[in-house]
Amino acid sequence: MNRVLRLFTPAIPAVFAVGFFVSFANWIPQTRWAPPKKLTLTADLAPAELARAGATIVRERGCMACHTMEPGVGVKGGGRGPNLDGIGARRAQGAAGAAANAADYLVQSLYEPGAHLVEGYPNIMPPAIGAPAKLGYEEVTAVVNYLQSLGGTASVKIGELPKPPGSGAAATAVPAPAPAAPAAAGGAQLLTDMGCAACHAPAPGQQAIGPALDAGSLRTAAGERRMSPEAYLIESIVDPAAFQREGFPAGLMPADYGTKLTAAQLKSLVDYLLGEAGT
Ligand code: HEC
Ligand code: HEC
Repeated sequence: MNRVLRLFTPAIPAVFAVGFFVSFANWIPQTRWAPPKKLTLTADLAPAELARAGATIVRERGCMACHTMEPGVGVKGGGRGPNLDGIGARRAQGAAGAAANAADYLVQSLYEPGAHLVEGYPNIMPPAIGAPAKLGYEEVTAVVNYLQSLGGTASVKIGELPKPPGSGAAATAVPAPAPAAPAAAGGAQLLTDMGCAACHAPAPGQQAIGPALDAGSLRTAAGERRMSPEAYLIESIVDPAAFQREGFPAGLMPADYGTKLTAAQLKSLVDYLLGEAGT
């Protein structure tokens, strides 16, 4: 017995040390950010469940960069886009000149925002099925249910709404998106034309008033803000006050680009800055 103990005694501190590090590693909070998991939206979900998923989608895909949720003020809130609070009640009968019920009206305003403009607003909303939000058909259904639930009742199941224009057989009906390469050239040109280059340097390390607009640091900032890079960029451009980058002056970047840029211009800026124009 004594001989066995003598044999093991030198190993005891090592065993303790290993044990300590294992428990320490488990104790460190696992805070590293992972991109939001794709929601699984299946045909058996009830409209109310879809509406809950839709609330998350609207928050995470950049819709609130333009829209607001302000009780009691009607369509006109303080945002670049209409106030979404109460939209389910307000659009229960759709709108004159557009679809005559809430679900059809709402789905059209996501597929083709420019087809029927809400009075008093410019045509700046990018179709929700394209960049940056890139909603799939099931996600569109979830968002429509969520919007209906704001003042009304969620009512549609997956499969009941029309498919996006251009999906399946009707491919010719897609409003042709601008070809990628010219859009990128447009992005570079816009940085000059819209005065962005006066404050932003194109590459990291160059001295400028605002942060360098390189794809790498934009993606990092988007991660910190827990948004997709595309949604983060749109937010930064149309609502600079929403998120303050440390080490840069607040309130300096003009807050009215949202009304000056069209959806197509916003898209070419985002594509260009994220370097995705050619892909
Ligand atoms: C760049 C700004 C911008 C973004 C981003 C944006 N919208 Fe819009 N949206 C607008 C504007 C401006 C209008 C009003 C003009 C129009 O009808 O297209 C509008 C209209 C709408 C309407 C019709 C509102 C009404 O009162 O009838 C709905 C619904 C809507 N948006 C939902 C969304 C959703 C959902 C998202 C995210 C996937 C989104 N929007 C992203 C700017 C934006
Ligand atoms: C007058 C100076 C000025 C102009 C003009 C300007 N910006 Fe900015 N921008 C800033 C400053 C300062 C910040 C950092 C402070 C903040 O986060 O609001 C910033 C932040 C940003 C961010 C977030 C960057 C990051 O790393 O998080 C983006 C994206 C951006 N600007 C894009 C643009 C685009 C695109 C234009 C032109 C359409 C533009 N800016 C015009 C000063 C400017």
